[in-house]
Amino acid sequence: MQKVDYFKIIQNHIPVYSLAYRIYVPHVTLVTAKAIKIAKKLKLKPEQIRFIEEAGMLHDIGIIKVKSIKIGCLGELPYIQHIIEGRKILEAEGLPLHAKIAENHIGVGGLTKDEIIKNKLLLPQRDMLCETIEEKIISYADLFYSKNPKRLFMEKSIKVVKAKVKGLGDRQQKLFDKWYKQFE
Ligand SMILES: [Fe+2]
Repeated sequence: MQKVDYFKIIQNHIPVYSLAYRIYVPHVTLVTAKAIKIAKKLKLKPEQIRFIEEAGMLHDIGIIKVKSIKIGCLGELPYIQHIIEGRKILEAEGLPLHAKIAENHIGVGGLTKDEIIKNKLLLPQRDMLCETIEEKIISYADLFYSKNPKRLFMEKSIKVVKAKVKGLGDRQQKLFDKWYKQFE
């Protein structure tokens, strides 16, 4: 598999001297480092670990299209749509597998069509669920880091993550408990 120059892609979409870039790079780096640690523990193959590195570094690229002033994102769209915008960006870059992770990293292992409808989320009404182990590991690792500038570098405690996951519903809570046993 050809290596992806993820910094080139990041810099093509997020201006280097922007606040968004200064939030984006530490966030995705921390998530990727945690994901790689898990992948190594699970003895994934080197090509799987390389894919996690690339997809982890690109998973939130869609934030540049949303409006979230505190993290320097000056787009028009609601925050939740960073997942579908990220998918579009990475598909346009010719990276359909990385694009899937941009979409399904949200929450614990993505969202079901029912959850999107029930919570009136401004997203297409279809399942967006993690399928591969690489996708699951990135979605899990992402739960431990915020893009809030004040907490950017601080890994959340398991207690904090569990409390957040509890609010996401039964499916996500059960899946998180399963992943916690598997990944930690
Ligand atoms: Fe993230």
